[in-house]
Amino acid sequence: MSDKPWAGRFSEKTDSLVEAFSASIHYDKRLYPYDIEGSIAHCKMLAKAKIITEDESAALIQGLINVKRELDHNTFTFSDSLEDIHMHIEARLVQDVGSVAQKLHTARSRNDQVALDVRMYLKAATEIIIDHLFELRSAIVALSRKHLGVVLPGYTHMQRAQPVVLSHHLMAYYEMFTRDVQRFEEGYKRTNVMPLGAAALAGTTYPIDRAYTAELLGFPEISANSMDAVSDRDFILEFNAAAGICMVHLSRMSEELIYWSSSEFDFIEMPDAFTTGSSIMPQKKNPDVSELVRGKTGRVFGNLMALLTLMKSLPMAYNRDMQEDKEPLFDTVDTLTACLSVYAKMIPHIVVKQDTMRNAASTGYLNATDMADYLVSKGIPFRKAHECVGKAVAFGLSEGRELHELTLEELKLFSTRVEADIFERLTLEQMVHRRTSAGGTAPDNVQKAIAEAQHRLDKEKH
Ligand code: ARG
Repeated sequence: MSDKPWAGRFSEKTDSLVEAFSASIHYDKRLYPYDIEGSIAHCKMLAKAKIITEDESAALIQGLINVKRELDHNTFTFSDSLEDIHMHIEARLVQDVGSVAQKLHTARSRNDQVALDVRMYLKAATEIIIDHLFELRSAIVALSRKHLGVVLPGYTHMQRAQPVVLSHHLMAYYEMFTRDVQRFEEGYKRTNVMPLGAAALAGTTYPIDRAYTAELLGFPEISANSMDAVSDRDFILEFNAAAGICMVHLSRMSEELIYWSSSEFDFIEMPDAFTTGSSIMPQKKNPDVSELVRGKTGRVFGNLMALLTLMKSLPMAYNRDMQEDKEPLFDTVDTLTACLSVYAKMIPHIVVKQDTMRNAASTGYLNATDMADYLVSKGIPFRKAHECVGKAVAFGLSEGRELHELTLEELKLFSTRVEADIFERLTLEQMVHRRTSAGGTAPDNVQKAIAEAQHRLDKEKH
């Protein structure tokens, strides 16, 4: 015979290998604060609905508070034979308050209990992640403000394309991380639905008051269908999808920081406190933080794939498979939190090498489009202008000179409309300042974008 709460119909003890195999306590113990908070609300509801007495409810609640204290102080003993955190807490409660503890599970099942716990956990985790994203976005905005005058090449196909303001480039990441916040907030709404009271799958015969439990736990809504309540894990999938996209952004940024800090680019220097040395090559300073963030992206994608595959084709309603949702979810939360916090801390210390950036933007014919635009302003159709400039670039390449290094006479060889005022148009300043179209890189635009972002961040803070 066994000591398990469900042992009644069994005549044999669970095989020890099965106990170890099916136990989730080593990871689901992190749900304990939510499990206890949920149980306390459940007790209050049971008393209010007169399913248990006020005295019983008070005894249960006191017992739950005692168990929580043991868990908080790490004096609680765990054992595989009690499977999961729900059974551990209940078993300890029996020891603490006696037989009344056996009433706690009235009108409830572990199926709706675990759904509640994970929703409560994920609400808290999502709030923390949004806070970390706030810090990261603030750091990006501050760095952008600091380097407003810096120009570097913008790239397409990893080839120098047109000059852009560094802050414009950085603020693109602000946009990405702001969309991430929106995605986490969207997912939060669907996480914020209270499943308790669905019981095993069909609801319960007791006159429970689900709205009251929801109110006690700060849920604005209760689930509408008991079968969906115990088998829905969409909110976990959505969270992981949002986390995956956020990691895409972090890994793109990582990749740029990694090659910007290489000798080949030499656009930035990473702070010493966020880099590591080599055990064999004394000169090395490696961007390990960015490399690890880029690498950890794979774990988060893997977790999303694991969760989608876990849920695919699962029949209704609860299936034990779903216990496998927790490790990938917890790992994603931990990984994303770690990546966001280390980046928020590192970004303010990145040293920008504006001279190398400027030199890079001054070579490679980045002003070719501007020369074509100049010819258009002199009445030449764009396609024709494009062709003239193409020839000028080919000439410059053969001479080893940039367009702005050619003489007026040489430039006139490609179009008679070229005048002395062209040289002004080919400067980096003119190139960025003239790109005033909405969302373009003109410093005035960028300054406005930074101010708007700051305004939004200040509003979010309150
Ligand atoms: N540890 C289980 C899980 O995470 C709790 C629910 C168990 N329910 C059950 N019917 N065995 O999914």
